[in-house]
Amino acid sequence: MTTPSTDSGATAPGRTTRAVAHLNAGPLDGSGALLDVDLEVDAPGPRDLLVEVRAVSVNPVDVKVRASRDPAGRPGVLGFDAAGVVVAVGADVESFAVGEEVFYAGSLERAGSDAGLQLVDERLVGHKPRTLSFAEAAALPLTALTAWEALFGALGLDEGAEGTLLVVGAAGGVGSVLLQLARARTRLRLLATASRPESAQWVRRMGAHDVVDHHDLRDAVLAVVPEGVDHVVSAYSAGNAQAFADVLRVRGAVVAIDDPEDLDLTPLKPKSQSWHWEFVFTRPLFEPESSAQHEVLEEVSRLVDAGELRTTMTTLLSPLDAANLTKAHRLVESSATIGKVVVAVAE
Ligand SMILES: NC(=O)c1ccc[n+]([C@@H]2O[C@H](COP(=O)([O-])OP(=O)(O)OC[C@H]3O[C@@H](n4cnc5c(N)ncnc54)[C@H](OP(=O)(O)O)[C@@H]3O)[C@@H](O)[C@H]2O)c1
Repeated sequence: MTTPSTDSGATAPGRTTRAVAHLNAGPLDGSGALLDVDLEVDAPGPRDLLVEVRAVSVNPVDVKVRASRDPAGRPGVLGFDAAGVVVAVGADVESFAVGEEVFYAGSLERAGSDAGLQLVDERLVGHKPRTLSFAEAAALPLTALTAWEALFGALGLDEGAEGTLLVVGAAGGVGSVLLQLARARTRLRLLATASRPESAQWVRRMGAHDVVDHHDLRDAVLAVVPEGVDHVVSAYSAGNAQAFADVLRVRGAVVAIDDPEDLDLTPLKPKSQSWHWEFVFTRPLFEPESSAQHEVLEEVSRLVDAGELRTTMTTLLSPLDAANLTKAHRLVESSATIGKVVVAVAE
């Protein structure tokens, strides 16, 4: 691995970095799943930061891309969530300087964060919370952006919003930060699903007022809130459209973040309920000029440093290499993790 030098130039000629890449789409035990490689680093584009990555966290999207996207013979570097230090900036960068500590979730279209050095557009980046370590900070960006966009974008909630919100899959990465954000920024009553004692305890720590088991969703929710809920944020939607229709009030709304197959939304029609999607990569893919994710991450950073949000890291592996990322992918694809799995460089 090459140790990056700190510079303020717009180019990084001849730099290489170690990275963890996949060579084929497929299962973790297949050949070419996750390998340690050395790669050349491109020069930063005009709005790019070159970041020395100190820690990453693994999300289900890492697992889904690894399993399904064939990098066509070239090493494909996975990784979205990261925290690190800016070591070079592009010519038109406005919000960051060399030496600043940052965190971000990046985009689907560029080489990922499972690397020593990564290029990322500054419009997708926030300053890392000062009160968190790199590992603690790397747990947050992708899930915080998703939760923010679901609550304040798709559902259109604002400061002080009242009513009842059901969070399905609440012990996972998104649910863990969404409960905290809703608690910090709204007056919603928060009903969270959790099916094990340890996940139930965790969602209460994250801010849930009430906990229900997702194995009997309709009856469990109506036992706690007989009048029904106003909103649902769902990380596990497959087979749940009828239950959501039953527990939602008239004109209630669902925001789904997962990829349910064979989705039939007709159960939502009688009560004129609505279904929304939230996808954290919509902005980087279709609105690349937008700085909205930069602004949200700056606000998340402020909330953390003000003591209103905490890290969701529950597992820390080190160093950042193929062996530990393989362990992390295995944990995340179990769909049983609580909070977030982080992989950090050795201190
Ligand atoms: N659209 C986006 O931008 C976006 C962003 C992030 C994640 N996602 C997607 O959201 C989904 C969840 O990801 P995540 O990282 O938040 O969480 P996760 O790590 O997948 O969540 C794991 C937790 O979910 C609970 N769970 C497992 N199966 C469940 C089920 N059938 N119903 C309800 N809860 C269940 C488990 O707790 P208990 O069983 O104990 O309750 C477990 O602790 C994934 O499909 C991911 O790809 C989408």
